[in-house]
Amino acid sequence: MFRIAVMVSGGGTNLQAIIDAIDSGVITDTEIAVVISNNKDAYALERAKKAGIKAVCVSRKEIPDRAEYNKALLRAVDEAEVDLVVLAGFLVVIPEEMIQKYRNKIINIHPSLIPSFCGTGYYGLKVHEGALARGVKVSGATVHFVDEGTDTGPIILQKAVEIKDDDTPEVLQRRIMEQAEWKLLPEAINLLAHDKITVVDGVTKRK
Ligand code: GAR
Repeated sequence: MFRIAVMVSGGGTNLQAIIDAIDSGVITDTEIAVVISNNKDAYALERAKKAGIKAVCVSRKEIPDRAEYNKALLRAVDEAEVDLVVLAGFLVVIPEEMIQKYRNKIINIHPSLIPSFCGTGYYGLKVHEGALARGVKVSGATVHFVDEGTDTGPIILQKAVEIKDDDTPEVLQRRIMEQAEWKLLPEAINLLAHDKITVVDGVTKRK
């Protein structure tokens, strides 16, 4: 079995998409070993419990010291003994030690077509606000490996989504989730679970 940890901060619709994809056989030979949240009120934790998945909270509020927090986060991931760490709306910066230890074993879903509307400050609704303010006609989602930069790691999958003239950030966010994120993230996990992706000079290729 390919074991994954899913890290979350909020509503957890992407976590739900992974749970559903495992149930329906879109993702095979894979189990969610643990769901880790930085926020004890994240609805994602409820989703994990409902699905009978181990859920833990490593709370930023309870561990204000950054170095101590980073250690606790790494410990939670290490204890789960996973093959892959999936950031599904996880809004805490990943400690450098974890990135080095889990090189090309951490993936993130970002709600735009990287390299547009990504990097520091672009998360959640802010990404869609940026896209609408710039007036782009197409946005989408990207699944990428996590490296030391913000949204700079090798790109695994991308999917474009049309922007409409009367979109609000909320409407666009929902369309990108429905048409791109909830399909793309399970697809990427399944590819990695079956060892179908390799990274050469910072670029991914299908094996
Ligand atoms: C998703 O849209 C995800 O792409 C985004 O946060 C949302 C989480 O929703 N992630 C980022 O912006 C990361 N930079 P969810 O909790 O319902 O899955």
